[in-house]
Amino acid sequence: MYGAAIPIWGTDGGRWRSRERALGATMTKWSPNSWRAKPIQQVPAYPDLAALKNTEAQLASFPPLVFAGEARKLKKQLATVAAGDAFLLQGGDCAESFAEHGADNIRDFFRVFLQMAVVLTFAGAQPVVKVGRVAGQFAKPRSTDNETKDGVTLPSYRGDIINGIEFDAKSRIPDPARQEMAYRQSAATLNLLRAFAQGGYASLENVHRWMLGFVADSPQAEKYEALANRITETMDFMKAVGITSETNFALRETDFYTSHEALLLGYEEALTRVDSTSGDWYATSGHMIWIGDRTRQADHAHVEYCRGIKNPLGLKCGPSLTPDGLLELIDLLNPENEPGRLTLIARFGADKVGEHLPKLIRAVEREGRKVVWSCDPMHGNTITLNSYKTRPFDRILKEVQTFFEVHQGEGTHPGGIHIEMTGKNVTECTGGARAITAEELHDRYHTHCDPRLNADQAIELAFLVSDLLKKSHPVQHKQAVNG
Ligand code: PEP
Ligand code: CO
Repeated sequence: MYGAAIPIWGTDGGRWRSRERALGATMTKWSPNSWRAKPIQQVPAYPDLAALKNTEAQLASFPPLVFAGEARKLKKQLATVAAGDAFLLQGGDCAESFAEHGADNIRDFFRVFLQMAVVLTFAGAQPVVKVGRVAGQFAKPRSTDNETKDGVTLPSYRGDIINGIEFDAKSRIPDPARQEMAYRQSAATLNLLRAFAQGGYASLENVHRWMLGFVADSPQAEKYEALANRITETMDFMKAVGITSETNFALRETDFYTSHEALLLGYEEALTRVDSTSGDWYATSGHMIWIGDRTRQADHAHVEYCRGIKNPLGLKCGPSLTPDGLLELIDLLNPENEPGRLTLIARFGADKVGEHLPKLIRAVEREGRKVVWSCDPMHGNTITLNSYKTRPFDRILKEVQTFFEVHQGEGTHPGGIHIEMTGKNVTECTGGARAITAEELHDRYHTHCDPRLNADQAIELAFLVSDLLKKSHPVQHKQAVNG
């Protein structure tokens, strides 16, 4: 173990030493449980710590959900996004739930997600890296520890992996047994998604057909037809020259990855395993994990856990993050400046992104850090209407537009979007082509946490982002590469 450190000192001593100095006391030896010695936010108050320990031991004996090689493959694909040669689409539920674990739900989500990906791939003429907020997205950070309704105060709901959403004292007690249920649900979800992705269901012909169905039914059909028709022509041409899903596996199968917020660290620790090929530690609860905006303190537990595992990482960047604070986090999370390791997920709000994002981009560029820039237009745009938490579609779109404009101005790559969405026809976000009004929110408001785009709104957003993609590149990047 110690011997391995010698070549690093020998060949690269100066760099190593100066980096170590910059990072100060935070760079102590990492292990899957070294986070336990750090301050931590958002911890559930489990009443029975012995039961919690048992569950964690049980989980540690279960098989991994994903393999290190898959996480490495995703990291490579994200490196192409960092280089400006691909686009990241990340999306799914705000919070998965035990109640909504039907096959239809998973299928409908996957269908909508793939339709978005096809539209974005065609418009950007670049591969789209597909990452679901799914098969593990259960734990939720909360702004307050308690919730009060009609004079009754109870602990806040923290996601199905921790406690129940029902507003009664018993449901709100954190129960470790839920972690095992979340693990098993994640395994089943992932199994179906793998079957869909690799078994022919996700063929380009199918996705294209679904997308045409959406366009035909849309009140905005005219707006989308031009792009849809061009995809049809391209597919007809490919078919004419013999490129179909039967002859070409790339049209028949797709790479689809899972991600979630690594919030419940005991669960993450139990699923942290050594990869036998590389000897490195990986989180095996999902391919990519991210650090939330509330738990990204540099000297706290969540950053400590994430710095030691080799998966691709996301970092939510909200208005309180300063350029220096971001550079400190990048030092900790990606000290080797490995492209694809770190995705910065900007979530400022439509009215704040123009002010905050350029400062962060400039700091990252100045220091030559290789990152993926992604836009989460959901979490900074939540308002309350008729006592429902909602997000107006036009604000979501505005944040994405400004994100693209800022990158255009800075000469950097608007690498992706990160959204909360479902394949169902819910009424949680207002607006969109089939406009949902504040009065209609109560109709099908089903989310366990934040309001999601419904199927139509999600595909509509993809069409609108496709216009931005067409405008933004890749011409500029290719010219830079060719000198
Ligand atoms: C989320 O992605 O559901 C979330 C809580 O985001 P953030 O950490 O950016 O607030
Ligand atoms: Co959310």
